[in-house]
Amino acid sequence: MATVRLGDIAPDFEAETSQGKIKFHEWLGDSWCILFSHPADFTPVCTTELGTVANYYPEFQKRNVKVIALSVDGVASHMEWIKDINETQNTTVNFPIIADEDKHVAMLYDMMHPNASESFTVRSVFIIGPDKKIKLTLTYPASTGRNFDELLRVIDSLQLTANYSVATPANWKDGDPVVISPSIKDEDIAAKFPKGSERIKPYLRMTPQPNK
Ligand code: BEZ
Repeated sequence: MATVRLGDIAPDFEAETSQGKIKFHEWLGDSWCILFSHPADFTPVCTTELGTVANYYPEFQKRNVKVIALSVDGVASHMEWIKDINETQNTTVNFPIIADEDKHVAMLYDMMHPNASESFTVRSVFIIGPDKKIKLTLTYPASTGRNFDELLRVIDSLQLTANYSVATPANWKDGDPVVISPSIKDEDIAAKFPKGSERIKPYLRMTPQPNK
C-alpha cells in the first residue's frame, strides 16, 4: 500500500477501462485530471455520483480536466452499469471507468481501507495537475455521496493559484475577492494586481479575482 500525498507525482499505471486499456500518464497528457474511486457498481449512491459527473462533464472540459472513475468491478460489469446510469440519471457517461479487479491501482493510491471495507474501495478523490502532481486528496465514506460543485470550486481555486499569485479564502466562490500570496511584496502589488487591493493586515491583502 502506498501513501499518496500532496505534491507527489501521481503514480503511473496501466489498466483496463470501460473505454479500453490506458497508460495513465500517457492518457493524462498535459490536462488536469480528477481520479475518483467508488465502492462498487450497481449501488445507489455511486449511481447518482457517476450520473452527476457525467452531467457536469462540460464543466470539467471547460477547465481542461479529464475525468476517470475506478471500482474493483470488471469491464463487463461497468458496461452494464453505465446503461443503468444513463437511464436513471438522464445522462451519457462519456468518461472511462477503470476496472481494477486485481486492485493494483487501488493499492497504488491507498483506496482500500480494510477497517472500513475488506473488499471495496472507499470514495477517494485525487485532483492531478498538468505537471502530474497531486493537488488534492479527499476520502469520503461509502454512505456519503460527494459534492461535485465543491470539486469544481477547488479546481477553480487551484487553477487561479497556478496562473496568478493568489489563494482563495474560506467559502470562496467564483467571482469573490481573493487573497494575495504572502510571497508578494507590498511594493509589487500595484503592478501585479491592477484591479486594486486592500491591505487589511500586513499578512492579509485582498484583491478582486484577477481573471474576472
Ligand atoms: C452506494 O453507492 O450506495 C453504497 C456503496 C457501498 C456501501 C453503501 C452505499
